[in-house]
Amino acid sequence: MFTMPKRLGILVGGGPAPGINSAISSAAIEAVNSGLEVVGILDGFQHLAAGRTDMVQPLTIGDVSRIHVRGGSILRTSRTNPTRNAEDLQRTIKSLQELGIAYLVTIGGDDTAFSASEVAKAADGALRVAHVPKTIDNDLPLPGGMPTFGFETARHVGTQEVLSLMEDSRTTNRWYFVVVMGREAGHLALGIGKSAGASLSIIPEEFAQEQISVWDICRVLEGAMLKRQVMGQMHGVAVIAEGIAEKMDPEELAQFPGVEIGQDAFGHISLNEIPLATIIRRGVHKKFADRGKKLSLVDFTLGYNLRSAPPIPFDIDYTRTLGYGAIRFLLSEPEDELLRHGGLICLRDGQRSVMSFEELRDPATGKTRVRRVDCGSEHYAVARKYMIRLEKHDLANSEMRTKLADAAAMSPEDFEREFASVVNWDGDAA
Ligand code: F6P
Repeated sequence: MFTMPKRLGILVGGGPAPGINSAISSAAIEAVNSGLEVVGILDGFQHLAAGRTDMVQPLTIGDVSRIHVRGGSILRTSRTNPTRNAEDLQRTIKSLQELGIAYLVTIGGDDTAFSASEVAKAADGALRVAHVPKTIDNDLPLPGGMPTFGFETARHVGTQEVLSLMEDSRTTNRWYFVVVMGREAGHLALGIGKSAGASLSIIPEEFAQEQISVWDICRVLEGAMLKRQVMGQMHGVAVIAEGIAEKMDPEELAQFPGVEIGQDAFGHISLNEIPLATIIRRGVHKKFADRGKKLSLVDFTLGYNLRSAPPIPFDIDYTRTLGYGAIRFLLSEPEDELLRHGGLICLRDGQRSVMSFEELRDPATGKTRVRRVDCGSEHYAVARKYMIRLEKHDLANSEMRTKLADAAAMSPEDFEREFASVVNWDGDAA
């Protein structure tokens, strides 16, 4: 039995996302106002899993009342996986017991949601967990298409960055390739590219095949650049989702300089060790050089500079409701047996709703389901129609095909053969 049943812990796992402090603040204020004692647990599950109980700090209303506008996380964060082995899981439960924590608010993405559900299950009734869904990747399957918190701020800040690069590209008459974080989902890259009106955005979801090559991406870019050239412009900005790298053969990637194929604590490829933007820039450079054209290309990576930005009002407002909702849920009597140990707090039509951890899991993998961009949606169709990239109608139109072939210094037949694989979208005619 716990000795201090009225203690609530708050921890943050995974990558930073704008709005974390606001969620902490809102949850802590409502918990204190509800008569609970609140402690902030530093560095996610890291110290709990190591059996340490000293890396905590009390949180009073005074400590948190003005942090909601700040980026980053006052409790820091880590990617420690407390379910990595049975010992770590048991140590985590024991540390929470020693701290007298009966209620836990976890703020995190898919991996932290998975950890939270495993910890709650293993505590077997001694702990209730409310998970608040965060990640700039927007890849948790929230109802009604609601974003994960942090995504809107990241999209906003990223859009400003891309708009600035678009101005630079116009001014200096060159192309920029911007790789954007998002793991295996392309929401952030597409959201930024569509909002900024970038020349094109490339996301992993658009490729039906399981595996793609670096050269497939270079070819898409080359086609778009040639089309833009035909339209009289030698500049542009291409936004590329980092998750493209997860669809590539690690052996192919390993041949490029500076690539290390490693994994994080949850078994994901460490994408920061793959200089994707540079690899693609060099590849496209080579493609143009092979036909005697010298190009000025610059690559750029967006992600770390978005994650700890101060939240925009949308994310502050949203996280205040979610943080409050987490406490109301923890202090309520769950009607649904599936929510006995805890659940994920979200909004459905503006009302608090709780998803069970089971509902979140992919039955095939046992892991949290990943929400990907739906390339059959109108949201995607609009983004795609406003891009400058080779589509089926370009190759079907003989005048356009001839102009493109001229720009590429090829015959129209060779051009069509070479670029046929690039036109991968069936919504073209819609
Ligand atoms: O938080 C999610 C995320 O931002 C992904 O988009 C990205 O791949 C990952 O974190 C990288 O995080 P880190 O390098 O801190 O592990």
